[in-house]
Amino acid sequence: MIISMIVACDLKRGIGKENQLPWKLSEDLKNFKKLTMGHHILMGRKTFESIGKALPGRTTLVISSQPKMNEENIFHFNSVVTAIDFAQERGEEELFVVGGANIYQQMISMAYKIYLTEVQTTVTADAFFPEINLADWKVEIREKFLKNEKNEYESIYKILERR
Ligand SMILES: NC(=O)c1ccc[n+]([C@@H]2O[C@H](COP(=O)([O-])OP(=O)(O)OC[C@H]3O[C@@H](n4cnc5c(N)ncnc54)[C@H](OP(=O)(O)O)[C@@H]3O)[C@@H](O)[C@H]2O)c1
Repeated sequence: MIISMIVACDLKRGIGKENQLPWKLSEDLKNFKKLTMGHHILMGRKTFESIGKALPGRTTLVISSQPKMNEENIFHFNSVVTAIDFAQERGEEELFVVGGANIYQQMISMAYKIYLTEVQTTVTADAFFPEINLADWKVEIREKFLKNEKNEYESIYKILERR
């Protein structure tokens, strides 16, 4: 199983404000759905609360020091390692780490791929993606998402793979 991250961040690595996404980017959400469909997605408790529901077609793994009862397609863990083992045991081939800042920071060293949407702006943020050393990653530019009525900013979708 490989561990991948998926994130949208601004030009200064900002990813969130007051436990929300700081933008409306419909193309990015579509891309997120396409990439994660059918997979296990791992997230911190705050990101889970921010999304507020299970995402259809995916198995949600929530990390919290006070894990709640499991529900259909939502599993709660008190450590990252137990959640990774769970996905592996269920035959997952690519586990998607979907945030937020705290979880990205703890798991960046385990990530083999990063699906990165680089939003072409700098917003006021209080949550950030960790700094990465670009020398460690092969970067492939995949697509440009244009600014329009459903996409607040232009963004560039890239895939980073560890060298
Ligand atoms: N732009 C993007 O792509 C993107 C993606 C995802 C999230 N976000 C943004 O990121 C922000 C949220 O990030 P965040 O850093 O505040 O929170 P977070 O990473 O979503 O969640 C943090 C929580 O996870 C739990 N946790 C983390 N590590 C743990 C460990 N090792 N053991 C047990 N529990 C652990 C703790 O929950 P307990 O307090 O319950 O113990 C902790 O308070 C929001 O603004 C959100 O919108 C942006």
